[in-house]
Amino acid sequence: MRMTLDQYIEAHTSPAEPLLDEIVRYTHLHTMNPRMLSGLIQGKLLATFSAMLQPRRILEIGTFTGYATLCLAKGLAPGGEIHTIERNDELHDTLLSFFRRSPQANQIKLHTGNALDLIPTFHETFDLVYIDGDKREYAAYYHAVFDKVRSGGYIMADNVLWDGKVTAEPLPNDVQTQNIMAFNDLVRDDERVENLLLPLRDGLMIIRKM
Ligand SMILES: C[S@@+](CC[C@H](N)C(=O)[O-])C[C@H]1O[C@@H](n2cnc3c(N)ncnc32)[C@H](O)[C@@H]1O
Repeated sequence: MRMTLDQYIEAHTSPAEPLLDEIVRYTHLHTMNPRMLSGLIQGKLLATFSAMLQPRRILEIGTFTGYATLCLAKGLAPGGEIHTIERNDELHDTLLSFFRRSPQANQIKLHTGNALDLIPTFHETFDLVYIDGDKREYAAYYHAVFDKVRSGGYIMADNVLWDGKVTAEPLPNDVQTQNIMAFNDLVRDDERVENLLLPLRDGLMIIRKM
């Protein structure tokens, strides 16, 4: 039987580690919305960027079941740390049990709470921020983290094509689509950054702070 293009791409990409496969299985069995998980190709891209940048400090907004956290953690510089924020406290113990088994266990700091409350309490300078929380809050996350990102550092934001709704006709009125579009416009018009909207999966905005 012929493969689909997605199957072909996955078949020609290095496989994920067993812990990541376990997270995928757990997510499908135990969560309401497994589509939120990054998955193999996006996870590999995050791991590759992280390995290229070798960041000392990463911030992730929206941990969910920890797939992207582990991918990003793999590229950390020696002694580096990833801070990841998840507001759903029911995920806390599961996340810790996955993170404990990672080779980067000591470098992963899980924060349970609302990112918009917690970010102002961080006194860190981040090399890389991954925004993957509530789509209604992307602009608020961007403003909250911007001054904490070093010059030359990166902000990446997932789902910025929002299932193609950003160009749908008629344009959807829902707050998530409207706010994703407002975020994309905000980044494009921000003279302090250069950006690329990468059409990978649901759209990944890659932003370099100048
Ligand atoms: C798309 S999922 C994250 C997926 C994860 N980054 C991954 O790649 O597997 C979004 C997560 O963000 C969390 N979230 C939404 N708004 C948040 C906020 N303001 N603060 C912290 N977490 C938030 C949700 O509870 C959900 O688990």
